[in-house]
Amino acid sequence: MNRFFFVLLFMIVFSSSYGWMGRNITLLQHGERVFETYCSGCHALEYLNLERMQRDLGGPVGHDLSQVSLPKSDAIHWFGRMPPDLSLIARVRGASWLSAYLKGFYADAHRPFGANNTLIPNVAMPNVFAPMTDDVRIGVLRQQDVDAAIHDVVLFLVYVAEPAALERYRMGGFVILWLCFMVLFLRLWIKSHIFKHETVKCGKILTCDP
Ligand code: HEC
Repeated sequence: MNRFFFVLLFMIVFSSSYGWMGRNITLLQHGERVFETYCSGCHALEYLNLERMQRDLGGPVGHDLSQVSLPKSDAIHWFGRMPPDLSLIARVRGASWLSAYLKGFYADAHRPFGANNTLIPNVAMPNVFAPMTDDVRIGVLRQQDVDAAIHDVVLFLVYVAEPAALERYRMGGFVILWLCFMVLFLRLWIKSHIFKHETVKCGKILTCDP
């Protein structure tokens, strides 16, 4: 019986760890705000379904994130290239790469925007979190706030790359609970209908054995 409860506990813990994204709507909402404030000036989310995002995350959306107001000619003049669309970047690069990239900016006086990156050497993108890092230095912000902004914007990009995952995680919890219920039910049924007779039969065999 103890073994059974251990498996049940494992399944519940496993199911809740899988629901991490579904339960973190507040983090996703924060990530969306961070994206709007710090990224949407240069990067578009072309494949983002705004209606679906409104339904999933709730609340009004500030402005259309699927388009960017930055003219291509200006972008090429300033950065040498158009900042890439980020709709599917989380699928291409993965969440940990994105997080490492955003944390990998460092001051470099030789670069036009005074910043370089450990993952993309001589990167054309400026360090957009530099004002926040400055605020940490003068004590207006805490380092945790910067880390939370990076974490949540990456979470938001993961959501944008596959919005259906949110629904899957939600359903996954119910499926695991249903499986737990079925395992419990089957165990009780098997115990009362099969194991009972087996014990009797076994008992007979044992007593018959010389
Ligand atoms: C001022 C314009 C600008 C802003 C604001 C900006 N970026 Fe960028 N970003 C760029 C440019 C330009 C590149 C291309 C860099 C290169 O290839 O050297 C880039 C590249 C990237 C890449 C790398 C894509 C790849 O795979 O090569 C990611 C990821 C990214 N940006 C994420 C973000 C996020 C997240 C934010 C907001 C927190 C943001 N960017 C804000 C201009 C910007």
